[in-house]
Amino acid sequence: MNQLPRVVYQVYPKSFMDTNGDGIGDLNGVISKLDYLAELSVDTIWLSPIFASPMVDNGYDISDYCAVSPEFGTMDDLDRLIAEAKKRNMGILLDLVLNHTSDRHEWFKEAMRDPKSPYRDYYIFRKGIDGGPPNNWRSNFGGSAWERDEVTGEYYLHIFAKEQPDLNWENPAMRRELFDMIRGYLEKGVSGFRIDAISGIKKRQDFPSLPPDAPDGLANGESCWTVYPGIEAFLSEMRDSVFKPYGAYTVAEAAGVDYERLPEFIGENGYFSAVFDFSYTDIDLENGLWYTSRRVEPKQLRESVFASQKAVCAAGCGAVYLENHDQNRSCNKYLAPVDSTTAGKAMLGVMYFFLQGSAYIYQGQELGIPNYPWADIAEFDDVATIDQYRRGLSAGLSERAALEAVAHRSRDNARTPMLWDKSECAGFSTGRPWLPVHPDFQSLCAEEQDAQDVSLLRFYRRMSALRQGEYAKLFLTGTLAPRFEEYENIFAYERQLESQRILVVCNWQSTPQTLCLPGGRILLDNLREEEQIGGQTALAPFEALVALLEENL
Ligand code: NOJ
Ligand code: CA
Repeated sequence: MNQLPRVVYQVYPKSFMDTNGDGIGDLNGVISKLDYLAELSVDTIWLSPIFASPMVDNGYDISDYCAVSPEFGTMDDLDRLIAEAKKRNMGILLDLVLNHTSDRHEWFKEAMRDPKSPYRDYYIFRKGIDGGPPNNWRSNFGGSAWERDEVTGEYYLHIFAKEQPDLNWENPAMRRELFDMIRGYLEKGVSGFRIDAISGIKKRQDFPSLPPDAPDGLANGESCWTVYPGIEAFLSEMRDSVFKPYGAYTVAEAAGVDYERLPEFIGENGYFSAVFDFSYTDIDLENGLWYTSRRVEPKQLRESVFASQKAVCAAGCGAVYLENHDQNRSCNKYLAPVDSTTAGKAMLGVMYFFLQGSAYIYQGQELGIPNYPWADIAEFDDVATIDQYRRGLSAGLSERAALEAVAHRSRDNARTPMLWDKSECAGFSTGRPWLPVHPDFQSLCAEEQDAQDVSLLRFYRRMSALRQGEYAKLFLTGTLAPRFEEYENIFAYERQLESQRILVVCNWQSTPQTLCLPGGRILLDNLREEEQIGGQTALAPFEALVALLEENL
């Protein structure tokens, strides 16, 4: 495999930078900000989907894998982006959505137009039962996972929105077409892929109804489609015939992979280079339910992160992250409002950034952009949020209560425009942005943070430079051992590679904490001026430090 990425930056193209004033970010916008990313010591850029799409789910509904969506630009722009990134030693990861396509994809249109067409079997059509769908599975975005084809009376399966019909991976011709398409992008020179919802590609083939789990009579169908037995054959085929020959880096969104099974998914001969673990980013949710978010204590988060690291380190290389386009902003999730300061946000950064694996930064995280202060459901775009709001109303919530329920966890919190400068629309666009601009953009924008001596952006630059420097290998692959676990609010760990040892300590509380620290040289600290640590040390509230320990092993 190519070198593992050290620092990956996720770009959500629609919200990153608009260069033609239509209010929608574009590939030329990404090109125009490559130097910003270079200054942040990014070596790899993950682009959320840029392919042709009716944008029901913002590009996660692809209507043509071989074309760039006109909002984002052209294939020439993509080629230019790949080349310009390469000049700066950056690789590009494209987002592969292989579980489903858009219902506007030619394959699906043909499947609907002519039930006898070979494309019908590229999707999952089944006869209904008793005038209703084939079974009672609920889609991830609510309602039945089946949609009726009015012409034949059959139903097609969609585990996400009805405009996202699931592909039938049992069909070898369909798989061949997908694999050829992926090879095409590798030939173009992308360094790899983030792979969407891949644990859902294998479905239980007898499609049984399940005991209903809610008053709607439907059931969560995950047990019949998440990492369902038989998926192994599809994943190995894709690894061996597509990824391996090109040495591609792959990071999978693979919900439902148990820790015991990680060695099969990542590592030397894993299906992927890395997988995202949701356990600590969804830790605020009970049973994964979007409306159950609660404040998480540092100790609880620490246990979850360390359990994850233990499993990942034993299996291969991780992909550590705080935010992505499906999450709300990390300062709102993990910090109490009064603690959501530059120091608090920098501490959150240190907490995850030096864990084992590639470190991912989501756009705007380095500026500490918080959730948007939503005032009306009409301000949202996200298909999932709007569905959740409707479900809230039908469960009897008032409009206000339903809005409150969805606002905190809405995916649109991560999708508001990037904040570049102090001009109107924060320099994101000269037109009307597709989502509202955060009202605090004057103080949060990159221009302002760049001008300050102390800012979160400057701190992220230092963190990232440290990740890229002489200890890069230790951060990527070294072992991890928890430290100071007897303290409720200390999040600390030691990393080690051969004789090198690095200690990371975060004081996650609004009061100081004295610790007896081993002797060492400070590589990074969000609050302290000194260069050395050792002995009884009073850590300031929300202080976070990274130190090279003197005593080598
Ligand atoms: C996961 C993606 O991250 C999310 O944004 C999308 O809605 C679903 N997969 C469906 O593709
Ligand atoms: Ca644009």
